[in-house]
Amino acid sequence: MEKTFLMVKPDGVQRNLIGELVTRFEKKGFHLVGAKLMTVSKELAENHYGEHKERPFFGELVDFITSGPVFAMVWEGDNVISTARTMMGATNPKDANPGTIRGDYGVQVSMNVIHGSDSPTSAEREISLFFNENELNEYTKTI
Ligand code: CMP
Repeated sequence: MEKTFLMVKPDGVQRNLIGELVTRFEKKGFHLVGAKLMTVSKELAENHYGEHKERPFFGELVDFITSGPVFAMVWEGDNVISTARTMMGATNPKDANPGTIRGDYGVQVSMNVIHGSDSPTSAEREISLFFNENELNEYTKTI
């Protein structure tokens, strides 16, 4: 079964959106297999966002993601990687459609509420960066 890494960013956590965002993915029918509230270290942030290292906003990105607790999650389900991206909406909230997470809750590209893996390769990499194997759970019966 496909898995993806999703993370409620510090803005989403501080705005008390964890429950709302978890509910959206639960209602869609995906299964939460791992979750933790954590503060991201500078080292983890630089590793996670490594592909953006040369971008002018890299420093801002790292400072923001380490600025307060995030809610890191692993979700499982058919096509969960691309479907979660559709549910999140465009990276820049100004381009995100109403009904999507960023369309409904986001205002700025740097504080866009949630992160989600963009491919199977990223999902595998990001899940293993944030979670140990023994922190991921299995559902014996799927509905
Ligand atoms: P995310 O999906 O976490 O992946 C990379 C992040 O970089 C992205 O969400 C945005 O929050 C952030 N980002 C992209 N473009 C900019 C920008 N121009 N200025 C600041 N942050 C940006």
